[in-house]
Amino acid sequence: MTGISSGGATIAEIEVPIWTTWPDQTQALKPIFSKSGASELLFELSQETAMRRPKQFKHLKKAEVKAKADTAAAPEIVYTLETERFNRTWVISANTPQIVPFGQGIYSILGKANIDNYANDFPASYSPGAKAILDFDARAIETKPVYYALKSKGTSIMPYWQGTSSSATTNTTNPVPETWKTCVIIDAENTATTGMRVATANEQNGAYAAPGLQCASYLYAPIGMVFVQSLTALEAAAFEGQPDIKAGDFGALMAMHVNSKETDSWTWQTFYWQGDPSFETNSPGSLEGQPSSLGAPWSSYAMCTAYDQSYDRGATMNLCYNPYLETSPGIPDGIQSNCVSCHGSANVAAQGTENPPSYPSNYDKLIDFGGSEFKGVMKTDFSWTIADQQ
Ligand code: HEC
Repeated sequence: MTGISSGGATIAEIEVPIWTTWPDQTQALKPIFSKSGASELLFELSQETAMRRPKQFKHLKKAEVKAKADTAAAPEIVYTLETERFNRTWVISANTPQIVPFGQGIYSILGKANIDNYANDFPASYSPGAKAILDFDARAIETKPVYYALKSKGTSIMPYWQGTSSSATTNTTNPVPETWKTCVIIDAENTATTGMRVATANEQNGAYAAPGLQCASYLYAPIGMVFVQSLTALEAAAFEGQPDIKAGDFGALMAMHVNSKETDSWTWQTFYWQGDPSFETNSPGSLEGQPSSLGAPWSSYAMCTAYDQSYDRGATMNLCYNPYLETSPGIPDGIQSNCVSCHGSANVAAQGTENPPSYPSNYDKLIDFGGSEFKGVMKTDFSWTIADQQ
């Protein structure tokens, strides 16, 4: 961890963002209450960030088959890794037994067997969409930070989002970061917090670049404009196909989803690195409108929000996605997506349910979360993490 100040918690006198101290997806989905007394919390924070490939990319069965076919020719290169971080209120909510007026009367939402059992026991008399786990506590927060690998010395090359047009990416349908034509040279020797500019000729020479990038033009930015964490050996190895990335190199925060349960359907905001407003793309998010109190490196992250599927009851669908996540070929129409349409579809299907809702195939109109499609399924309060437990 570098000493970059960010507000939040203080560990051994170093200020760190509060979410870096929260349980990750593995810890958060384990039962935390001891059998001897409910007040004792059993989870321990690990010292290692459990970075992994986003499961989101492999959700669809069809996408999995396609991904395998695509990778048969070339060895896999992992460009981005994610974790999920949940605040303590989320973890306690997820651990609280759910008391309901049917079946065995009390259910846990942790573990596949428990959640399947819960979905199966919902009486058929409940209307579609009314079958749902109980809501999370209003103070619950869930996050999904996404990292790109940089060398901790010298310069490294990182793709820079410039949108979905053919001048910006070699793949206009699924513009994943490794297809972006503009790249930024990040200088680990320069800790200034401003100073992004067009790179000088050949400045990219000698910089570390992951294999397979499509960079055609270059910008330059000091590392002080990026939030970075030191990688452990395990995390460095998880960037498969990048053998030059070692323990002590940097996981650079490229992007992050943040949800809070302040409203029934949660608040949805996503952030991704754009550096300086003079180069940003302004779609799907923007650096505009930041509070003046927001310091570096956080002021380098563009944001968009989607508190509902649309602005006006369906007339204008809300477009908000993260260029590092929702551009994946595992997601249909991700570059037209919004958070609420996809997460509102999160469900566990009761046994025998045919064609339960999955990812939306498009975002042309509102999804009716009480529609007949939701017959036989139990909604999981917008959480794919709860729905997708293995
Ligand atoms: C096409 C579907 C889809 C879209 C669109 C989508 N997500 Fe997700 N999201 C998922 C899935 C599936 C997961 C489960 C975990 C994983 O990817 O490994 C997830 C996980 C998350 C998590 C971790 C906690 C949880 O609920 O599982 C957060 C936070 C999150 N997404 C926020 C957002 C935000 C904010 C947006 C919009 C900017 C968004 N998501 C758009 C499918 C989607």
